[in-house]
Amino acid sequence: MNAFFMEQKNKNYANSEYMVRTGEKIDSKRIWEIRNHPLSRQYSGNPEAIPWKQHQNWFERKYFAGADNHFFVLEKSGEETIGYCRLDFDSEHNHYIVSVAIDPQFHGQGLGNFLLSETIVKFNGSKNLAAEIQKENIVSVKLFQKNNFKILSEDEKNYYLKYTYLN
Ligand SMILES: CC(C)(COP(=O)(O)OP(=O)(O)OC[C@H]1O[C@@H](n2cnc3c(N)ncnc32)[C@H](O)[C@@H]1OP(=O)(O)O)[C@@H](O)C(=O)NCCC(=O)NCCS
Repeated sequence: MNAFFMEQKNKNYANSEYMVRTGEKIDSKRIWEIRNHPLSRQYSGNPEAIPWKQHQNWFERKYFAGADNHFFVLEKSGEETIGYCRLDFDSEHNHYIVSVAIDPQFHGQGLGNFLLSETIVKFNGSKNLAAEIQKENIVSVKLFQKNNFKILSEDEKNYYLKYTYLN
């Protein structure tokens, strides 16, 4: 599916109180809070809580030191950042690895879908996207498949998915 059709799928939250925008330094604290919530860590590659100082160093180096890494956030108007979608470049495979998380208070309302689909449209990259999802993470597998990520391979624990930009 191309970017035009992805846009059509977003109509439920388009022009609503929710907005997806490019991430900024000011988002660091909320990203840390969302990432450290036990429900966000449940299926993470590293399920440990990250200390604030460690997060800050990582965040600065990852996104604000010139590397080809990007992130978008979901904002509720008049409130705060309630989700993030990271696109981290993997030079070995020449694709961006996507990870997405929504503040658990807002789960199950289609907002993960809005964030991921808007991110794909706004990023509009020239390289493919990839995701590594634990098989037990049913919601996430559904979310990525709904957004046209295809399962390329699997092992005992994970599915490995890929999204190809058509333009
Ligand atoms: C994955 C995550 C971002 C999904 O966010 P969300 O806003 O709750 O998801 P949505 O409401 O957009 O739902 C996505 C799909 O999952 C389904 N879903 C949502 N909650 C569900 C539940 N409790 N049980 C079964 N399916 C569920 C939805 O129905 C939807 O599928 P559909 O469109 O076919 O109906 C969120 O669960 C999260 O932050 N998880 C922790 C981090 C994580 O695991 N990230 C993924 C690895 S990168």
